[in-house]
Amino acid sequence: MLHVLEHPLIQSKLALMRDVNTGNETFRRLLEELTAFMVYEITRDYPLRDRAITTPLETMTGRVLDANVVLVPILRAGTGMLGGVLNLIPMAKVGHIGLFRDPTTLEPVEYYCKLPPQLSDAHIILVDPMLATGGSAIAATDVIKREGGKDIQFLCLVAAPEGVAAYSAAHPNIPIYAAALDRQLNKKGYILPGLGDAGDRIFGT
Ligand code: PRP
Ligand code: URA
Repeated sequence: MLHVLEHPLIQSKLALMRDVNTGNETFRRLLEELTAFMVYEITRDYPLRDRAITTPLETMTGRVLDANVVLVPILRAGTGMLGGVLNLIPMAKVGHIGLFRDPTTLEPVEYYCKLPPQLSDAHIILVDPMLATGGSAIAATDVIKREGGKDIQFLCLVAAPEGVAAYSAAHPNIPIYAAALDRQLNKKGYILPGLGDAGDRIFGT
């Protein structure tokens, strides 16, 4: 269920983000821009409803988005993708799931969760720039499902084969959208070639 989005604008922004010489400010801007292009691609099948519109010349029936969209960034790095989605879907609700990877075990540790109600009929976009071992995304998806979420798309920037395999095994019906499928994880669970620690690069920590 992995879809790599090959659009040239996505690929060229990702290449700039990977560059070690790209500073925090540019990294953040590129992340928002890239996320917007990815969201444009993954929302193609969202439903529309008719709406009466009066143009300066006459009335007509326009079509507007008819979807309860819920965006769920995984804290912290996922918040760097928030603006990119909200610029395109300003009416989206936002839930937050706080997870960090224990640096020794690489297991996700949950520290925060606040999700909007009525997840059962929502189009949920779970966002996190990195899919490494898959532990964080699997845990976040478990939480969303536990709260009633059904229609989930997982959007990341860089995926490792190990993370794709683990996530697909845990949540076989949820599509993963990534800008790149990288080579492998290193011994510390970092993606190679990757882009480093996404949270640190976004927030300058
Ligand atoms: C990073 C990243 C993912 C996670 C991916 O977060 O943003 O959430 O690692 O790794 P995994 O697939 O092996 O779980 P991190 O734990 O560094 O926390 P942060 O966002 O607060 O920096
Ligand atoms: N988290 C990151 O931020 N980067 C990686 O390469 C792996 C996990």
